[in-house]
Order: sequence, then structure tokens, then C-alpha cells
Amino acid sequence: MFQTLMPRTLVLKYLSYINNIFITLGVELMNSFKLPENFMFGTATASLQIEGGDKNNSWYRWAEQGHIKDNTHCIVANDHWNRVEEDIELMKKLNCRVYRMSLEWSRIEPEKGKFNSEAIEHYKWEIQKLIEAGINPLVTLHHFSNPLWMEDEGAWLNAEAVSYFERYTEYVVSKLGEHVCDWVTINEPNVYLLIGYVFGEWPPGKTSIKDYLKGAKNMIMAHIKSYNKIHEVRTKMGFRDTMVGVAFHLRVYDPKHGTALEKRLCKNTDHLTQEIFIQGMTEGKLVFPVGSGYPLGKGKYFDFFGINYYTRDIISFTLNPSQLFAKTEVKEDAPVNDLGWELYPEGLYRICKKYYDRFKQPIYITENGTCDSKDAFRTRYIYDHIQQVKRLIDEGVDVQRYYHWTLMDNFEWIEGLSARFGVVEVNFDTLERKIRKSGQFYAELCKHKAVTDEMIEKYL
Ligand code: BGC
Repeated sequence: MFQTLMPRTLVLKYLSYINNIFITLGVELMNSFKLPENFMFGTATASLQIEGGDKNNSWYRWAEQGHIKDNTHCIVANDHWNRVEEDIELMKKLNCRVYRMSLEWSRIEPEKGKFNSEAIEHYKWEIQKLIEAGINPLVTLHHFSNPLWMEDEGAWLNAEAVSYFERYTEYVVSKLGEHVCDWVTINEPNVYLLIGYVFGEWPPGKTSIKDYLKGAKNMIMAHIKSYNKIHEVRTKMGFRDTMVGVAFHLRVYDPKHGTALEKRLCKNTDHLTQEIFIQGMTEGKLVFPVGSGYPLGKGKYFDFFGINYYTRDIISFTLNPSQLFAKTEVKEDAPVNDLGWELYPEGLYRICKKYYDRFKQPIYITENGTCDSKDAFRTRYIYDHIQQVKRLIDEGVDVQRYYHWTLMDNFEWIEGLSARFGVVEVNFDTLERKIRKSGQFYAELCKHKAVTDEMIEKYL
């Protein structure tokens, strides 16, 4: 009756509207839903976390120095360097159409200014294999690790890093640009610089806000030069389909009690950890306290807005000036993952909506996933986050892709091999891979571009 009175599209719109009210109210409702046919699903990884076999990078040295919490190492990791084909088979089983991978700079330029053609040929071969398998690569140039020669020259504190990165970009794109149209210049500059230059827990182990800001300026400049270079090289090759962006790690910051002071502190934290990078890397603007003006010119230095979303922080006031008077904690009684990060799917909605309203550019969710060694809540995690994606699309937000972090358990930086983020489980003694239950759910999601009633019945 209802359906005869209203057109089907209107009914669907109405139901989705009602559903969104329930989601907002936090009421548990598990529904089937469908995403647009052209939406793209995939997984994401980073070279250092999976490849193994390279001693020429900052993380190899960091692990050798005994900084990894569980005393594991990145020297073997998943041995992906030797198992590319096996891992592409896994992606095929997961029905992934896109894959975000990174290149190890230290392999490609093992000595300053000297490029290794074998390494770049290996990556070219891997990329061709992916394309043959119907999987489109999104290639990241920098994902937290540096060649040792670069690290020893001061890493990202050295202003020369900007031209080093530009030269590396030019080499890589001239070799791979024929096959790769989608690029991420830098992964999560904020996370890399906060943990490595302020907290001192990652290489190069610095603990200075001044260094953080210096590194931020250099990374912003490096991104802009790299963005321009990728376009320049590919345009000369005759391509017009180049897409370049940054994978920004973005969090929600919410005030603990909702006071005006806490709201101010949320804004400050957002400014210092996110906004300085966003303004710098999207339009070339250096803002206080990184700098001022547009040193490389005002422009548009992104073709998609990449979002890595994991969690939110709750902010309150502290007298501690070294924390800039903002104490961050996890929301009381909230569900958390194995690393204690709050599971907060609505955050994905809030972040995507905020930056889409501001930039009106395509959004790629370049990372989203969770640490769950028992695979106890990952399926639900994926469901909840994709439901938010559906909600965004229904509201006209142009989210085009979702890259799940991560394909398979891997070297989770200082947490080592014991933190498990994979939809594929890895036995690090035998290196055997096995698709988890959540991976089977993900495979069906990627295949149908939908959560069906059968999937809810079977997995949720
Ligand atoms: C990073 C990944 C990391 C993941 C989970 C992101 O910050 O880009 O390399 O493994 O989060 O911690």
C-alpha cells in the first residue's frame, strides 16, 4: 500500500532517513544496505610493514636498537617482497578492486642520488601483476620510513629533504607513471612527526615541539613539490587522469564536559595536529606556528582528500604545559580495540562530512580498520563504518573509495608483530596466511557492494 502511494526511490530515501536518525541516537539496528555500483573497495598496506629484507631504512635500525615493545622485528615481517603473487591471490579472493601500497624509498635510492633499477623493476612488476588481476594500485611515496643516508642527514629536519623527496618522486614517476595514475605523496605527516619528533617513540626519537614544526614545514613543502612533479611527469607522458593526494590521519576531538575552555582546547589540538597540515598541503598556506603566507604559491595541491580514520580523543584541561594544557583520553566506558582505541564509527561520518562540506572534493578513505587479535569485533567494526559511508553517500558526500587497514597482520611499528589489524591472519613462524571470518565478510561486501540480509544472518 505504502509502495503504491509513493515512488520506490522516495520510499528508500525515507527509510534511509529514519535509519540515520536511529544511528545518530545510537540505537542498534542491523539492516541490509547497498552502495553505488561504482564505489571501490580495497585494502591498504605499507612497504616497511610487510616486505621484509631491507636493512637500509630508519625502522630497521630502530628495531635493532631494541625499541619494539614485543621484541619482534621488521626484517622479515610478512616476507611480502618474495610473496607478491600469493598476496595478490588473497586480494583477488577478497574481491578487491583497488589496493593502496607504498614504495620503500631506501630500496629505490639506497645511496644518496643513486637509484637502484632492480628495486624499481620489482615494483613495476608488482604493479603490473596487480593490474592484470583487475586491481588498481594507489601508490604512496612516503609511509613513515626513510633511507638511512637521509635519516643521518637529519631526516625531515633537514630542509634539503624537500629536494631529496622531489628528486625521488621524479625518478619513481618517470619509471612507474605509465602504469600508475593514483598517488599519495605522504602518509599521515602528523602521526609520523608527533610520535617521532615530539614523543620520541619512533625514529628519529626527537622530543621537541620546535622540531615537530620544522618537520611539518618541510613535509608540507615536500608534498607540494611532489604533487607538482607527479603531474608534470605524467602530463609529459600524455596522461590526463592523474590523481594525487595526502593520506591525512584525522581524529575527532570532543570536549570531556563540554565547557567553553575544553572546546577551545579541542580547537587548539585540532589546529596543531591536523589543521596546519591540511591548510599547508591542500592550498600551500603556512599557518601559525609553522609559518606564514604561501612560500610556494597559493594553489590547489590535491585531487582527492585522503582520510585515515581510526578513533576519537576526549579532551579536558590539565595544568601540564608540556601537553599544551590539553589532556587527551579515551571516552569513559566506550568500547575499545586491543590497543585501547575507542570504537567510534560515527567519527568517520563526522570527519568525512566536515571536510567534504569544506572542500567539495572526492573523498578516498585511505585507511580504516582495527586491532583485534581474536577477530571478535572486526566484522561488526567494518559493518558499522561502512554503514556510515552509506549514510554519507545518501547525504550527497562524494566518498568514492574505501581501503581497509589492513590486508594482513603485519609489523605494527613499535607495537611489533603482535598487534593484529589484518582481515587475513598471519602466522609469523610459518608465514602462512589465512582469511579471517571478518575477511570473508569483507570479501562478500566487496563483491556485492552491499550488506545483504544473508550476510547479516551469517556473520553478524
Ligand atoms: C598508519 C598505519 C598503521 C595504522 C594502525 C596508521 O596510522 O598509517 O601504518 O599500521 O595506522 O596503527
